[in-house]
Amino acid sequence: MPNSCEPNQLQMKLFKKLRKEAAVPTSSNDQFFADLREKDFSRLEKGGHTYLDFTGGNLYAESQIEQHMNFLKKEVYGNPHSVNPTSMQSTRAVEETRKAILEYFRATEDYICVFTANASNALKIVGECYPFDQKGHFMLLSDNHNSVNGIREFCLHGGGSFEYIPIRTDNLGIDESTMNAMLKAQPEKKNKLFAFPAQSNVSGIKHSLDWIKKANAEGWDVLLDAAAFVPSSRLDLSVYKPDFVSVSFYKIFGYPTGLGCLFIHKNKFHKLRKPWFAGGTVSLVTVKYPDYFLAEGHERFEDGTLNYLDIPALKIGLDYIKNIGIERISDRVSEITAYLIQELKKLKHSNGHDLVQIFGPKDLKKRGGTVIFNVFDQDGKVYPFYKLEEEAAEKMLSLRTGCFCNPGIDETNHCLTAEELSRYFIDKTEINYMNVLQFMETLRGAVRVSVGYISNREDIDKLIQFLLKYKDISLKNGQESQVA
Ligand SMILES: Cc1ncc(COP(=O)(O)O)c(C=O)c1O
Repeated sequence: MPNSCEPNQLQMKLFKKLRKEAAVPTSSNDQFFADLREKDFSRLEKGGHTYLDFTGGNLYAESQIEQHMNFLKKEVYGNPHSVNPTSMQSTRAVEETRKAILEYFRATEDYICVFTANASNALKIVGECYPFDQKGHFMLLSDNHNSVNGIREFCLHGGGSFEYIPIRTDNLGIDESTMNAMLKAQPEKKNKLFAFPAQSNVSGIKHSLDWIKKANAEGWDVLLDAAAFVPSSRLDLSVYKPDFVSVSFYKIFGYPTGLGCLFIHKNKFHKLRKPWFAGGTVSLVTVKYPDYFLAEGHERFEDGTLNYLDIPALKIGLDYIKNIGIERISDRVSEITAYLIQELKKLKHSNGHDLVQIFGPKDLKKRGGTVIFNVFDQDGKVYPFYKLEEEAAEKMLSLRTGCFCNPGIDETNHCLTAEELSRYFIDKTEINYMNVLQFMETLRGAVRVSVGYISNREDIDKLIQFLLKYKDISLKNGQESQVA
């Protein structure tokens, strides 16, 4: 029987039965978030969307946009690099926002907040300016976004070396004893940078923030990529004090895009060596005598004109999150994630085989709202993720598939070795993803579903209902069929 996109009657009956058995109770938060969704996110329902890509980008509340439009309408804002009245207006708004951000992260005492285009740009500043030389060393988890992985190129160009801490295949976590040994293993290196994500953008694991102190004690500077963590967790920089922290704001409150920040610990400000200067970053530069002085504060790393019209919208976004409360957001994301995992685990074929395999932690311990999995046929053959994404799109389901800019997790999940991977690179000057899949003779990639504070159980139900279309599917001989 051809596999149709509409769930058949049997699937619907099963779905309703599973729903009845759902053990997760509704919470007092339900009404609060239902009201918020109706008031500020009604476009989801109006457009028939099921949005499950919160790690990709959060959604903005409609009231944020209205407030920002009012802000823009009521005043005249000029380029901030001046003391004229319109320029000062912009400077005031930008600096108020910077202050609010430092306060939100409890970073006012110890950190400088540099506005960037996004988290990747914050990471690039660290990579470009960290003094990687022949004694330099970069150590990072195999679970990192490519914008962290890419820093290894700056390190290599400076003459330094890099190494990865492996991920455990069973739960995609890190073996702490291996990590501890690796942290101790480079006593002769001088400029050592250790980078890890506070939360994995793929497995959703929250890595331990206690590693910061541990690594500092062994002489490492620590770069914490907080991009996937801060949308649903409190990062208190008065308690945990990494040397550098990267953030993208649209991941926290959806609007505006194109803005992030880099927190630089004041003690490490002078360790970063900016290799050039640009407008706005210098206190003095001359042409006839080729020298310059860089600015002494955040200006040093803010090249050219800041996005001064959008930056004030960050304060509006932060206020929105503060009004809900980040702890309440954390609880809500945990609740919905618990429901998601519970419902995914229930999906079985009639022969008892799992329809879905979740990678990484299958419980709520130290994890955020990001879950990855693959769908399997009744004989355990993996269903192509790219087809699944197309079929999900037909149902207005926004989820992600592939390897999510984090190849380390994917390589671990599919047990790919360095030797296998190296064969691909030899003789190749350009590639495309499908070509890689064919070459590996194994399906790489997975499906990623991520929830946010505005997600609800109905979103998860719609996902489950969609996944039930794969129940009893068989991919024998490359053909797709379904046992009636
Ligand atoms: C953990 C993590 N780091 C870095 C990034 C890069 O963020 P951006 O694309 O906003 O620069 C992402 C984006 O998904 C991420 O999840």
